[in-house]
Amino acid sequence: MSGQVVAVINQKGGVGKTTTVVNLATALAASGRRVLVVDLDPQGNATTGFGLVKERGIKSSYGLLLNVVSPSEVIRNTYVDNLDIVPSTIDLSAAEVELFDQENREKKLREAFCNIDYDYVFIDCPPGFGLISINALNASSKIIIPLQCEFYALEGLAQLFKTVENVKSAINPSLIVAGIVLTMYDRRNSLSHMIADDVRSHFKTLVFNTVIPRNVRVSEAPSFGKPVLLYDMKSAGALAYIELAREFLARENEA
Ligand SMILES: Nc1ncnc2c1ncn2[C@@H]1O[C@H](COP(=O)(O)OP(=O)(O)OP(=O)(O)O)[C@@H](O)[C@H]1O
Ligand SMILES: [Mg+2]
Repeated sequence: MSGQVVAVINQKGGVGKTTTVVNLATALAASGRRVLVVDLDPQGNATTGFGLVKERGIKSSYGLLLNVVSPSEVIRNTYVDNLDIVPSTIDLSAAEVELFDQENREKKLREAFCNIDYDYVFIDCPPGFGLISINALNASSKIIIPLQCEFYALEGLAQLFKTVENVKSAINPSLIVAGIVLTMYDRRNSLSHMIADDVRSHFKTLVFNTVIPRNVRVSEAPSFGKPVLLYDMKSAGALAYIELAREFLARENEA
């Protein structure tokens, strides 16, 4: 694998992981990078977010994770130029149990990625910390952590950083945190300001300057099977994800 593998992860549910994967990946593809999205959540939200049907039994990330199908069998084109996807279906929910007694159960995804060639692979992680997420961390060079601007945002982050440290010392020493991205920011809500300030004072430059606003167009787009960049390119949400992509690339060049 020649490019970067980036897991978008937060064990907390509903914080904007999938939305960030779909739209950051689309923005990078629009800038000419070759991007693969790997939907590693049995909910299959990234899959439907690109308008694909998540029928049970199709070749999906489930087979890839269990090393029973090759990447070329599961990678599908999307209508976004430069952007392919490994879809997910509910079949993936069995993977946690099926992996459990397998040898190298935490390294299966890394093995599956050996022969793929993209500039960026974005993994949409499920909520929680099961074997699926551990596989994602082991297969990645970087992680991005979406953080929703709400009261319990910081809860669980310590656990996430501890898990990252464990993965680094056990299997994947080069894993780094690329950044924390504040999502669903409501500038009219003083709590959003407070949370954002709090997160920045704790994590300093680890927090992306770009903030993703709460924006109704972002939440409507998936029901049309489209990234918000294609659904409403001029919406505040689309512009924010374009800016996030710019900042992400700028940080890549600094590193
Ligand atoms: N910037 C935003 N503005 C408005 N709604 C948003 C925004 N970002 C995400 N949402 C909505 O919030 C919900 C949760 O977002 P998303 O599915 O991306 O979170 P998630 O972390 O992937 O959730 P899960 O843990 O269930 O996988 C979705 O309905 C999504 O459309
Ligand atoms: Mg999700």
